[in-house]
Amino acid sequence: MKSPRDKRRDNRAQPPRKGGSAPTPVRPRDEPRPVATAESAPESNAAARKIVRREGALPAERLPVILEVAPNDDYALLDSGNGEKLEQYGPYRIVRPEGQAIWQRALPAKEWNNVDAVFTGDTDEEGMGRWRFPKAPLGETWPMRHDGIDYLGRFTSFRHVGVFPEQASHWDHMAGLIRDARRPVKVLNLFGYTGLASLVAARAGAEVTHVDASKKAIGWARENQEIARLTDKPIRWICEDAMKFAEREERRGNAYDIILFDPPAYGRGPKGEVWQLFEDLPALTDICRSILTPKPLAVVLTAYSIRSSFFAIHALMRDTFAGMGGVVESGELIIREKSAGRALSTSLFSRWLAK
Ligand SMILES: C[S@@+](CC[C@H](N)C(=O)[O-])C[C@H]1O[C@@H](n2cnc3c(N)ncnc32)[C@H](O)[C@@H]1O
Repeated sequence: MKSPRDKRRDNRAQPPRKGGSAPTPVRPRDEPRPVATAESAPESNAAARKIVRREGALPAERLPVILEVAPNDDYALLDSGNGEKLEQYGPYRIVRPEGQAIWQRALPAKEWNNVDAVFTGDTDEEGMGRWRFPKAPLGETWPMRHDGIDYLGRFTSFRHVGVFPEQASHWDHMAGLIRDARRPVKVLNLFGYTGLASLVAARAGAEVTHVDASKKAIGWARENQEIARLTDKPIRWICEDAMKFAEREERRGNAYDIILFDPPAYGRGPKGEVWQLFEDLPALTDICRSILTPKPLAVVLTAYSIRSSFFAIHALMRDTFAGMGGVVESGELIIREKSAGRALSTSLFSRWLAK
């Protein structure tokens, strides 16, 4: 049986669906997990890569590290409970299911009824089908801002809203690394979605390569770049399977100072390549290590996958970065609730830092 924690992870396996010619990158929640067979997996990633044990001492370790997003002007977790969460996204108050919120609501019903959008059902392929707008019909997007970067919130068919606010902890940390480096920094953002991390990195001065399998998500990310008035910043937008892209960079000898990867539990590349977190993560992590520059800064992995613990990705990262020095720190990303101060955990992370 799945624990609420498992469900939380499933919730995040979200897809921009109907991505033009791009195949659905991620399965909807609760859909039976597709099994890659010789026939069904056109080009399975399930890496033919032989992972060789890395020589050298394991990096130092720091854990558990809990990275917290507190309520701010752009985003707040206003309240949670009874299997739902009430959030403020820019001008809108939004209610969505939250399997982890097994506690009672702290705010009265009138607060929960005074909302702009409610995600009512399970996932649905047909665009806006499952959003209800109690006050007035709303458009697909609305203005949002993170630390001075304008972008669009977006009602998507999979309950997601075009941004994962808990990731702000990583963005801000990464921006600090880029600025402090005082030299040109190259960032690779794999599974980049709507591009917030790419925009933050580019504004901090990095040259960014953003990779996502969904044409639609790449379109949204480019739109965000325009809205953020960052079109003069060097960002390469690449619609490709993350593993394939990383393998190609390795063959070409291209390297990066910072790599972010935030893979779903299950996804598909544009040519039907299958991504399965538990099978493919060790190979992708290994490739990430090989495509680092001689003076790398960080590798940041987030996992919303089911059936895992931060100890698992911590061990993988430490093994993979053996001999590189530095430190691996791992833990959870949480959002602090405004009403009663409870912590809502959204995901696990593990990051290798050069210092
Ligand atoms: C969990 S989201 C990443 C969210 C993003 N890091 C953020 O914080 O906004 C997963 C993304 O992975 C993409 N994806 C799924 N399978 C993929 C694959 N095989 N290769 C590249 N991208 C993939 C999806 O299109 C989706 O945009």
